[in-house]
Amino acid sequence: MKLPSPRGPLSAAVIDALAGAPHDLAVPSQPLDEEDLQLTLFVLYELSYRGWDGVDDEWEWQPSLVAARTRLEKLFEERLVALVGPVTPPSQPIARALIELAGEDTGPSLSKYLRGRATRAQFREFAAHRSVYHLREADPHTYAIPRLGGAAKAAIIEIQIDEYGNGREPRMHQELFKRTMVALDLDTTYGAYVDVVPATTLAVNNVMSLFALRRSRRGAILGHLAAYEMTSTAPNRAYGNGLRRLGGDADATAFYDEHVEADAVHEQIAAYDMCGSFAAQEPGLAGDVLFGARCALALDQEWATEVLARWNAGESSLREPLP
Ligand SMILES: [Fe+2]
Ligand SMILES: [Fe+2]
Repeated sequence: MKLPSPRGPLSAAVIDALAGAPHDLAVPSQPLDEEDLQLTLFVLYELSYRGWDGVDDEWEWQPSLVAARTRLEKLFEERLVALVGPVTPPSQPIARALIELAGEDTGPSLSKYLRGRATRAQFREFAAHRSVYHLREADPHTYAIPRLGGAAKAAIIEIQIDEYGNGREPRMHQELFKRTMVALDLDTTYGAYVDVVPATTLAVNNVMSLFALRRSRRGAILGHLAAYEMTSTAPNRAYGNGLRRLGGDADATAFYDEHVEADAVHEQIAAYDMCGSFAAQEPGLAGDVLFGARCALALDQEWATEVLARWNAGESSLREPLP
């Protein structure tokens, strides 16, 4: 993936530094704004996934870069607490609390819009936003596996093995999404649209990395995964139907159709076997599970609200319209 263009002094300093050999970073301590913050975090986190073209792999653990990342994560975490409230222990069994949370429907429905009204150009934009995650779908949550034991570990593996197509490349969800992108004449290169998505899209991705890369947030990453699995079936049915309405064939909708099937099963495994077992093993982290789930849903809602507002204003939801 090519390094993106900076969005402020902080991202400029980090992107500039990464082009050279690992060395002590001197970067502004504060981002200019949310775009600058989220892009910088995204650039730093990618060092723990597939990396950036021409950037030395050793940067990932360069101490001054880790220090800068930790400082920025504090800012991001403050925003998350402002958005969903602090971590508090659930007042009922975790699976029940998650089911209740997943059932709360707040804000406008992007999936309804995509099913019934979106133009092909808008569907292409939607897929471009989502490609930042779907082309590495499941990867952030996989970081949780070695941090777990027993029933919770077995449960997350059961979910993840489906995400990775049971070890068959064409069935991997990351690969299925490429077929959707091909049908929409989009670039299937990993990270191709990072440069054009706004901070809200990057935040949706960064929150997974924030929780995934820190062992201390293992509860939150499980809650995040559970929230995704438990709110997936109905929207994915709507996305698939929307794409069929626009002429998409079985290949184009395979990604969405697969999620209607798979996530009906995953939501049960996630709530009871994964989060339920985890909260029984580590009751002190049950509040974190719920916090992670609330962050997942709130950031997705923030993103969907922004996309719909831009479309309703007759504008592109991307920083630059697609060619
Ligand atoms: Fe998936
Ligand atoms: Fe799933």
